[in-house]
Amino acid sequence: MKNSLKITEATGKLGVLLVGLGAVSTTTIAGVFAIRRGLSKPIGSLTQMGTVRLGKRTEARSPLIKDFVPLAGLDDIVFGGWDIYTENSYEAAKTAGVLDGALLEQIRPELEEIRPMAAVFDQRYVKRLEGPNVKKGKNKRELAEALREDIRNFKKQHNLDRLVLIWCGSTEVFLTETAAHANLANFEQALEANDDSIPSSMIYAYAAIKEGIPYANAAPNLSADIPALLQLAQETGSPVCGKDLKTGQTLIKTIIAPGLKARLLGVEGWYSTNILGNRDGEVLDDPESFKTKEESKKSVLDYILQPNLYPDLYKDLCHVVRINYYPPRGDNKEGWDNIDIFGWLGYPMQLKINFLCRDSILAAPIVLDVALFLDLAKRAGMGGIQEWLSFYFKSPMHAPELYPEHDLFIQMMKLKNTLRHLRGEDLITHLGVEYYD
Ligand SMILES: NC(=O)c1ccc[n+]([C@@H]2O[C@H](COP(=O)([O-])OP(=O)(O)OC[C@H]3O[C@@H](n4cnc5c(N)ncnc54)[C@H](O)[C@@H]3O)[C@@H](O)[C@H]2O)c1
Repeated sequence: MKNSLKITEATGKLGVLLVGLGAVSTTTIAGVFAIRRGLSKPIGSLTQMGTVRLGKRTEARSPLIKDFVPLAGLDDIVFGGWDIYTENSYEAAKTAGVLDGALLEQIRPELEEIRPMAAVFDQRYVKRLEGPNVKKGKNKRELAEALREDIRNFKKQHNLDRLVLIWCGSTEVFLTETAAHANLANFEQALEANDDSIPSSMIYAYAAIKEGIPYANAAPNLSADIPALLQLAQETGSPVCGKDLKTGQTLIKTIIAPGLKARLLGVEGWYSTNILGNRDGEVLDDPESFKTKEESKKSVLDYILQPNLYPDLYKDLCHVVRINYYPPRGDNKEGWDNIDIFGWLGYPMQLKINFLCRDSILAAPIVLDVALFLDLAKRAGMGGIQEWLSFYFKSPMHAPELYPEHDLFIQMMKLKNTLRHLRGEDLITHLGVEYYD
């Protein structure tokens, strides 16, 4: 056993600021309130229900993660956020239609207290939305300053010790890196010049990181994933992670694909389609927002299956992803996967998956975990990209010289080994020869 790293204790209150009080955010907030009251259990949350094995299998040491590393308690979380609509989070949760009305009534007063601050929003980046609760400013620098002011006021008003900020806003149109993103000086000039290559999500990311606050991106847009903001994160010691929560169809894909590859089964085609009827589905109905999502969803298989190493099995894989906006289903998405695989002597087989899932029910525990782990990272002095949180994302942020790790099981090892490392425990290699000496 090595020495534990120095981690500041999680004393006082943690503010969790969410950009966008939509389906994911309100399901997270209402869920935490319900769990706090003992009305429900934190199912799906690694920080609340997960354990971590320590030492040898013969030692029988598997504490809960929340007892092993110092995390903020659910009672110490204070939620806040921004939206372009003025609905409080009770009304927004009703609009999202994810949670049962009877459950929402029981926590209604607490939900009603969370009213969205005026947003930084520009319809150019999310074409299908329009709302009244939007800040005005001379340029994007002024808007960033206004967000920093909101953050500081929120901290003061609620007497908070620390903060985390998570983009749970809509998926913005597809953008690629430009010179404005290349370094901090260019970026700050571009803010001043109202450069088009800075969408709203980047302004929030800049405000958080400039304040030294951890930042996560639940959506696939670039946001903090540009050299300028990563440079700033190093300077201010802000931990950052993203992009795009790994829920639904992609979660299942990253569970199944590593298994097929482990057994050297070939994949000729993978066709994924789904129907979704919530506001996210409506935004993704715009081809420019869909392109951002599609890029995020499609990269997964290439990285897991490694066609360059296994050309006979995966070189010609045809991967198609579709999302269809279908209002009657609301947040209850239905996904279909048809996977054309082949085995010994090339004999073809098929696998069909029909997943009737609830998107925001799968997303909420991730938002909670990411908030608590980012706060831990900040207290442990870990600034910049948090690759160990890849576990939660479809397009995990990674250093430029590395490829991202998409295999859910490798991601989980990485996460748990990081926790062991933080606490000075031996990393687990699963070698196991020592049991047979
Ligand atoms: N639900 C999931 O499982 C899941 C999984 C992965 C990623 N995501 C992503 O998470 C995001 C949120 O999903 P959702 O289902 O909650 O969507 P939603 O449409 O219900 O909520 C998004 C909210 O963000 C607000 N918003 C948009 N731009 C804003 C801005 N600039 N400032 C403040 N508010 C803004 C919208 O008004 C809306 O209320 C989407 O980008 C979605 O693609 C969701």
